[in-house]
Amino acid sequence: RPRVLSGIQPTADSFHMGNYLGAVRQWVALQETHDAFYCVVDLHAITAGHDPAQLRARSRVSAAQLLALGLDPERCTLFVQSQVPEHPMLSWVLSCITGFGEASRMVQFKDKSAKQGADRSSVGLFTYPILQAADILLYQADAVPVGEDQRQHLELTRDLAGRFNTQFGRTFTLPAPFIVRDTAKITDLQEPTAKMSKSSSSPAGIIELLDDPAKSAKKIRSAVTDTGREIVYDPANKPGVSNLLTIYSVLADRPIDELVVAFEGKGYGDLKKELAEVVAEFVKPIQERTKAYLDDPAQLDKLLAMGADKARAVASATLTQVYDRVGFFPSR
Ligand code: TYM
Repeated sequence: RPRVLSGIQPTADSFHMGNYLGAVRQWVALQETHDAFYCVVDLHAITAGHDPAQLRARSRVSAAQLLALGLDPERCTLFVQSQVPEHPMLSWVLSCITGFGEASRMVQFKDKSAKQGADRSSVGLFTYPILQAADILLYQADAVPVGEDQRQHLELTRDLAGRFNTQFGRTFTLPAPFIVRDTAKITDLQEPTAKMSKSSSSPAGIIELLDDPAKSAKKIRSAVTDTGREIVYDPANKPGVSNLLTIYSVLADRPIDELVVAFEGKGYGDLKKELAEVVAEFVKPIQERTKAYLDDPAQLDKLLAMGADKARAVASATLTQVYDRVGFFPSR
């Protein structure tokens, strides 16, 4: 079976629709056909300041949501990144074959450090994509299911893998991005050309999976739509309406064409009202299952520890090879 790996940051109290539609939905499908590794990347979550107790709680909430959304520990390996020490160990080696200029060109780093002020940004924020490359390469992943915003990080990962292989001998599989076009960039309800994002300036723009459906309905009602009144799918000219149609289509499992026909002669208000109902239907069982996992944290932690053991078996085999190839002293 080909292998996939992906990760998600525990930096919010809930995942949002972008996380689900852009990434986690594919994770669930790929566990049927691939040898799948998924991690909650808590090491990545400390690059811009955090609260310790909140981080630990959010890692659990993240894992609980992933299980509630359909990851099955019998079909995939689900773990928390910090429980597999090989990740930062490989990251160090990769950082030594990454160019300073190359890392400086990462758009997410540039955006985030510009927001925080260069002097206040951590070195961890700068090396973040190298740790991400380590996450992927340790598992020899063939493909990495993510949203569009991760494409540049995956290009860096491929470059580093190729460079290491050339310098030290063939060690890493070159991973391909697995990006589903239609849902690769779910946009902000208030700003329909920007991606829906945890760090977005206004919470009104994001639909959170664990939010009260009444609250999500309100956000959807006040979503920015486009001029005109026709409900058509046209991302370039009608980004707001198209985004709502995309979310509706995937959650209700109805093709966009069919929705467009069904909404002929109706208005934006009708679309928003129905979408709010579809979202409510979708999140209800997710919220119940998430809560059930969180009600038994000991069981959840045990499940994650088992995942970490499985992950570590694979990661340590790769790391041993890497250490040998770069000429580190024989391990004891
Ligand atoms: P993170 O935690 O920001 O997001 C998790 C996943 O959700 C996708 N995503 C979106 N997709 C479509 N539309 C959106 N509006 C949207 N917002 C987020 C992201 O593309 C991502 O797939 N650097 C990664 C975490 C990471 C990782 C890895 C991913 C660490 N190590 C190894 C893959 C492989 C990140 O910050 O994702």
